[in-house]
Amino acid sequence: MLHRAEAIKAIETLWARFLDERTLPGNLRDAIRYSLLNGGKRLRPILVLHCCEAVGVPPERLVEHTWASAGAIEMIHAFSLVHDDLPAMDDDDLRRGRPTLHRHTSEAMAILGGDALMGLAFELIATRLKPVELAGRIVVELSCATNDMIAGQVYDTLPDFDPGMSAMDRLLTIHRHKTGALIRAACRMGAICGGADDNQLEAITSYGQAIGLMFQVVDDLLDVTQSTRQLGKTAGKDQRQGKLTYPGILGLDASRAEVKRLRLEAENALECLGTAAEPLRVLCEYMAIRTK
Ligand code: IPE
Ligand code: IPE
Ligand code: MG
Ligand code: MG
Ligand code: MG
Repeated sequence: MLHRAEAIKAIETLWARFLDERTLPGNLRDAIRYSLLNGGKRLRPILVLHCCEAVGVPPERLVEHTWASAGAIEMIHAFSLVHDDLPAMDDDDLRRGRPTLHRHTSEAMAILGGDALMGLAFELIATRLKPVELAGRIVVELSCATNDMIAGQVYDTLPDFDPGMSAMDRLLTIHRHKTGALIRAACRMGAICGGADDNQLEAITSYGQAIGLMFQVVDDLLDVTQSTRQLGKTAGKDQRQGKLTYPGILGLDASRAEVKRLRLEAENALECLGTAAEPLRVLCEYMAIRTK
């Protein structure tokens, strides 16, 4: 049985070592450490870990199989949050219960810290993941998902990006890109690092797609229903900033029903994976009912 907290701690130690070994300007190193190493739910690394487990890798081999992919995707996630909070984007002062990076240091360091996290993510895969064919496959997964996330942030920033589309279709496009893409990629990267066969990868991909969308529906709901204190980030911002969100379009009850539907879709996708996918079932439930 995998002890998840210990595995995540071991993975974090390996990323920290990777960063320590890398020559970087001191201010940049501090900015990266501030945004990467202190907090967050670590959902994407946890997904990499459990998706690797779900395709048959034994618990004692999971850290060695997943740490580079888990670290790289968390770096991309951290980069996306640092830039998401910038004044030119969501203009947020609070993240994970602390000042956002640009508030803590400067806008320049937040822009450059985000840029560096992206470069370092790919450097980590390219230099640490073996064999090289696997590293190549993971780079394809992560780079495509990163570009989809960036496209999603563009759509989010310009929510009438295609006035020919219905508001619901635009909303789906935004959420599948800005949040869904990285979550789906975390799942696929874990499965690929575990040597998944085609059927396993298809199941994991369907699971990742459903929870990826579900995750952002829940994020939209929490923005409306929770306090800033509970979230550790500013609540009630989406409406003030005119964002296209699930509660904004469907209302609270229908958004909650959508979470339930996506949760079932994700659980059904796991059927063919048997008991090795049990942690993914538990995680799906947690993601549906989380309050933070
Ligand atoms: C927040 O992601 C941004 C979204 C994509 C909704 P998380 O809720 O996973 O953020 P942390 O890493 O736990 O702070
Ligand atoms: C964030 O969406 C998506 C990315 C960072 C890619 P939000 O703007 O809703 O995330 P929070 O609510 O600030 O964490
Ligand atoms: Mg945003
Ligand atoms: Mg935001
Ligand atoms: Mg949000």
